[in-house]
Amino acid sequence: MPFTVPEPYCWDDSFMTFYDQVDNEHKGLFQIIFDVAINPICSETLKKCLDLMVAHFTYEQGVMIRANYHGFPAHKAAHDEFIGKLSRLTAPVNSDDVDFCKDWLVQHVKNFDFDYRGKL
Ligand code: FEO
Repeated sequence: MPFTVPEPYCWDDSFMTFYDQVDNEHKGLFQIIFDVAINPICSETLKKCLDLMVAHFTYEQGVMIRANYHGFPAHKAAHDEFIGKLSRLTAPVNSDDVDFCKDWLVQHVKNFDFDYRGKL
């Protein structure tokens, strides 16, 4: 059963991992996807979205590696697959692709990121 995508699209307490930097970065990811949704013609916003995702995934993967987290390979593969799709998008971003990004982040945080809670 997929998790509900918030509308308006915004981070809320149901997405808490209880790691401050991760939660703060997640808030930024929700915000930048929201920004793409309201301004899909802006290539700079789309580029910033990609940059923030890459930066977040790099940070999160580093923490997982240092903690010898068992779920790292599958988690990294999920990150890499999403970056592959995101990096192929171009402005104007169509609404199906915006919806895909919105849903992906919601499902990823609650299905993948939540698994490392208390283990890093
Ligand atoms: Fe917070 Fe796995 O992205």
